[in-house]
Amino acid sequence: MLGALCILGFALLVIADNPIESGPQKITLASRIAPLGKSLKRRALSPSNIPLADFFKGTDLQWFGNITVGTPPQDVTVVFDTGSSTLEFASTLCSTCASQIQFDPSQSSTFVDGGRTSTITFATGVGVDPVVGDNYQLNLRSATDTVSVGGLTSPNVSLFLITEQTPTFDIDPFSGIQGMGARAQGFFAALIARGLPSLFGLFLTPLSVGNAELTIGGIDETKFSSNLTFASQAGTGAAWELRSPGISVNGKTTSLLNTQRTIIFDSGTSNVLFDTATAEAMYALISPDIQPNPAEPGTYGIACDRIPTLPAVIDVTFTSQQGTPFNLTIPSSELSVGPFASNSSLCQTLINAFDGLELVGGSLLKHYYSVWDVGNQRMGFAPI
Ligand SMILES: *[C@@H]1O[C@H](CO)[C@@H](O)[C@H](O)[C@H]1NC(C)=O
Ligand SMILES: *[C@@H]1O[C@H](CO)[C@@H](O)[C@H](O)[C@H]1NC(C)=O
Ligand SMILES: *[C@@H]1O[C@H](CO)[C@@H](O)[C@H](O)[C@H]1NC(C)=O
Ligand SMILES: *[C@@H]1O[C@H](CO)[C@@H](O)[C@H](O)[C@H]1NC(C)=O
Ligand SMILES: *[C@@H]1O[C@H](CO)[C@@H](O)[C@H](O)[C@H]1NC(C)=O
Repeated sequence: MLGALCILGFALLVIADNPIESGPQKITLASRIAPLGKSLKRRALSPSNIPLADFFKGTDLQWFGNITVGTPPQDVTVVFDTGSSTLEFASTLCSTCASQIQFDPSQSSTFVDGGRTSTITFATGVGVDPVVGDNYQLNLRSATDTVSVGGLTSPNVSLFLITEQTPTFDIDPFSGIQGMGARAQGFFAALIARGLPSLFGLFLTPLSVGNAELTIGGIDETKFSSNLTFASQAGTGAAWELRSPGISVNGKTTSLLNTQRTIIFDSGTSNVLFDTATAEAMYALISPDIQPNPAEPGTYGIACDRIPTLPAVIDVTFTSQQGTPFNLTIPSSELSVGPFASNSSLCQTLINAFDGLELVGGSLLKHYYSVWDVGNQRMGFAPI
């Protein structure tokens, strides 16, 4: 569950050959508020709910849903990934994508080849599978085509076809990734320009709960009963990130944990990444027996039979727009990521050491309804 997708996200953020990314549009709510009389005549697009399926492999890994691409529309399944900004999916140009639904550009009358190629190599894999050299790699080719999400259609959307992938992607039950970064791009930017409210809601749930959902252009108030707490975006880039004054584990903190940091929110991964020193300070408050697994740098583990007895409540504190502290909490039930392939009695634990990146994902998000408000550059959370 290590985020192939999360790291994919960050890999993609630094690809410089996408013209849409190199000049991100800043879309503010104000820019789509027309004078009253006019806006009444020009009816805005309505929000749409997209059901999400859970990629579950011993634990909830990622959530994905259907979009269509091309004319006539072809179904493509994608992870909606707040850690990246572009759209890429398997295509019939890819001879190594046989286990995924492949988009066939030759069957789309609106497909336009962009001709630019790029390669991304991931630092982490999916689940507890080890990353060895270039074993998580995608080759991409740029294009544009019509894209529909939740029945809302945009023409001429920038995208990337996967033209080659390593076998490590074969287990993915989806064809690709729709980036949902904090600067709206692609289909979402086009819909916002036509009047769709510039926010989306995510209801990521454990497999046992089901009914996971993306609401594009709105908030599904039926999914939670408490009030949303909003916090302002810390950055100005494509990453969704909030400033945190401190972290507690099992109600305790340390001087290292109790310092201000900026934490990225990435729906495309379920793991939690912190600097090595921070990760180890957190583990020290859980159990001294959680140790690095040298077979896969950055990961930690402990005998699987020890995990059920270990309390591991992680409270990450943030500050609301009203200036009030609030915690987002990862419960102890998230501690185990499942057994390592190399040793089935050794289980990977949730926190990975990754110097230079501090990030939370699905293991936190699935305990909240989350609102990703592009127009107001803020995030909202309500416990579920
Ligand atoms: C995606 O579409 C397929 C085919 O219509 C359907 O069987 C599947 O349930 C859909 N997936 C989701 C998550 O809605
Ligand atoms: C599609 O978008 C590109 C910019 O991404 C633009 O140059 C091109 O003219 C557009 N084509 C159509 C048919 O709208
Ligand atoms: C939600 O906010 C409203 C208005 O501020 C308040 O009246 C209500 O008590 C709050 N509800 C909860 C569950 O906190
Ligand atoms: C956040 O969690 C810590 C540790 O459990 C606790 O001490 C603190 O009071 C909590 N803060 C809020 C605002 O609930
Ligand atoms: C597998 O992990 C268990 C639990 O940590 C450990 O006791 C055992 O020695 C490991 N086996 C091997 C072959 O490393």
